[in-house]
This record gives sequence, structure tokens and C-alpha cells, in this order.
Amino acid sequence: MTKVTLTVNGQTVEKDIADNRLLVELLREDVGLTGTHVGCDTSQCGACVVHVNGKAVKSCTMLALEAEGAEVVTIEGLAKEGALHPVQEAFRDHHGLQCGFCTPGMIMSSVDIIRRNPELDEQMVRAELEGNICRCTGYQGIVKAVLAAADVLKKEAV
Ligand code: FES
Ligand code: FES
Repeated sequence: MTKVTLTVNGQTVEKDIADNRLLVELLREDVGLTGTHVGCDTSQCGACVVHVNGKAVKSCTMLALEAEGAEVVTIEGLAKEGALHPVQEAFRDHHGLQCGFCTPGMIMSSVDIIRRNPELDEQMVRAELEGNICRCTGYQGIVKAVLAAADVLKKEAV
């Protein structure tokens, strides 16, 4: 067992964990944040995406020990003071989800995509979301939601 210390959604987390514990296991099982989903465990689906030091990461592909000292944000940490993040609002408003299983990962990836691409178009959104799979085939609404959220965030930044 090795001690790992990191920040999750602004709170310090300190745990003794096995060296092979995955970040997603730490978040879901040790910290109790089950909004981060496991859809495949093989780096394909993107349901487990969280932010590590501001970048989208598939948390099933990262050892928890690699997050030592890192700032991790999960879907539970995105809303601020009871107000949904604009990307969450946009997914709700544009029917960007059906069963919702892929949604936490889709939203965490989308926040990162919008941050990295000030000028997004539909093709770019589709290409960027390649690593996130929706089994309900809800991509039309998802793409609309990401583009709408990008517009809102651009206006907020002005
Ligand atoms: S559970 Fe991590 S990519 Fe599918
Ligand atoms: S909304 Fe069901 S898997 Fe995407």
C-alpha cells in the first residue's frame, strides 16, 4: 500500500491504496464519487473522463498514484453554487442524452474540447468526441449541445 494525496473537486483526499489501483477506482470506490462511470475498462468509451490538472483524462487508463499532488475535477465538481455548468445546461436543453450513462464523460470531454478550441465547428466537435461512445446513438443532440455551450462560453468570456 502507498499513500496518495490529491485534490478532488477542491477537497484534499488522502488514501492508502494498492499500487495498481486505477484513478477511476479511487474516485468511485474510495472517494464515493460514482458520477464517473466505467463503460469498458479498455480506454474505448470515455465514460470515465475526468479532468486532471485541467486536462481531460480517461481515468480507467491512469493509476491513482500517478495523480499524486494533482487537482482532479469530476462531474460532481462542475456545477458551482447549485448552478449547472453551461455545458451541462446545453446537454439538457439540446437533448444531448438519452440513458445518461455516457453523459458524465461526454460533458467532461466537451468542457475540455471547448477550452482547447475557441473556434469550434460541427466537424471539429465530431472529431474531438471520437474517444467518447454513446450507445444510445444520441450524437446529433450531443454535437448541438457542445456547439451551443461553446457559444455561451465565448459570450461569457467577452
Ligand atoms: S471506462 Fe474508461 S474509457 Fe471506457
Ligand atoms: S445517453 Fe445512453 S449511452 Fe449515451
